[in-house]
Amino acid sequence: MTLTTSMMGLQLAHPFVAGASPMGRQLDDVKRLEDGGAAAIVLPSLFEEQITFASEGRIRHKDPFDARSAPALQHFPGQADYAFTPDEYAEYVRRVRCAVKVPVIGSLNGTTSESWLTFSRLIEQAGAHAIELNMYEVVADPKLSSAALEHQIVQVAAELRQFLKIPVAIKLSPFFASIGNVVQRLERAGAAGVVLFNRFYQPDIDVDAMQTVVDARLSTSAELLLRLRWLAILHGRVKLSLIASGGVAVPDDGVKAVLAGADAIQVASAVLRHGPAYLTTLRDGLAAWMARKGFTSLDEVRGKLSLRGVADPSGFERAHYLRALQTWKPGS
Ligand SMILES: Cc1cc2nc3c(=O)[nH]c(=O)nc-3n(C[C@H](O)[C@H](O)[C@H](O)COP(=O)(O)O)c2cc1C
Repeated sequence: MTLTTSMMGLQLAHPFVAGASPMGRQLDDVKRLEDGGAAAIVLPSLFEEQITFASEGRIRHKDPFDARSAPALQHFPGQADYAFTPDEYAEYVRRVRCAVKVPVIGSLNGTTSESWLTFSRLIEQAGAHAIELNMYEVVADPKLSSAALEHQIVQVAAELRQFLKIPVAIKLSPFFASIGNVVQRLERAGAAGVVLFNRFYQPDIDVDAMQTVVDARLSTSAELLLRLRWLAILHGRVKLSLIASGGVAVPDDGVKAVLAGADAIQVASAVLRHGPAYLTTLRDGLAAWMARKGFTSLDEVRGKLSLRGVADPSGFERAHYLRALQTWKPGS
C-alpha cells in the first residue's frame, strides 16, 4: 500500500503534516515531530508586525514609542513575547533544515502586500522547501470592500511568487462570498497551494468578571465539516494543492479529508493534545481504513466523495440544505 502524496510538488510519505503551532518553536520539538511521524513540518509564523518593527521601527505604520500610538498598539505583544526575532527566524529555519529530513515550510503571517514580504527571500535562502502565508485579518473597517480585500490577497500571492522560487501556499479564511473564485485567482497568481482554513480566534465573554476572554482553544472534529465541504467543491476544479487544516482530531477525520479531496492534511491541535506520535496514529488509521476497504494507493481514495462529477455544486448544496430541513425529526 502507498500513502504517498504530492503537496505543492513536494513528495510526502503520507498526507499528515505538522501544522504551525508552538510545537515547532524548539529544535528538539521539531525533531520529535519528525520522529512522531510528520510527513512535513510547518514552522510557527513570523509576523508582519515583527518584521516592520525590526526594519522600520514601526508596527502597522505607527511608532510604538510615540505616546499617540499607544491606544492603537497597546494590545500587541511586546517584542520579547515573540519566540523569534526575524533574524533568529531565518537562522532557525537553517538549523531545522539541518536537523530533519522531511520538508520544512516557513510561515509568514501578515495582512499587507508591503515591503515586509521581501523577508520571504531570507526564509527561502535559509533552505525552506516552501512558504505558507497566513493572511489572518478580521476586517472591521466598513470602508474596505470584499473586492478590495480579495484583490490584496491575490496581489500578495503574486508578489511572493515573483520573489521566490520555492512554492507558496496561502492559508485562507473561510469567510469569502465565493471561495472558489478566490482560490482560482490565487492559482492564476502563482500560488502552489491553499490551506483550508485558517481558524478564527473568537473572543468569549466571562460574565462574572465582565471581561472579554481571548485564548487559543484547541479544535475538535466539529470544525472539520466546513473544510470537508470546500475540499469537496474545489477538488478537481483547481490544480493547486488543497491542504486541509482545522478539526482533524481523530483518525477517521483524516480519512474524511482525503475522501473529500485533500492532498495533504495539517494537524496542530491533535498534536498539541496527544503529542507528536499522534501523527503516526493518524497515518496508521488511514492505512488501516484503506486496507479494510481494499484500496492500495491514496490516489484511489482522494476526492472519491468530492463534487468533482457534479455539474452544479451550488444546486447540489442547495438541494441537500432543503432536504436536511425537510427531513428533520424530533430527537435527530
Ligand atoms: C497555540 C496555537 C498556535 C498557533 N500558531 C500558529 C502560527 O504561528 N501560525 C499559523 O499560521 N497558525 C497557527 N496556529 C493555527 C494552526 O496552524 C491551525 O491552522 C489551526 O489550529 C487549525 O488546525 P487544528 O484544528 O489542527 O488545530 C496555531 C494554533 C494554535 C492552537
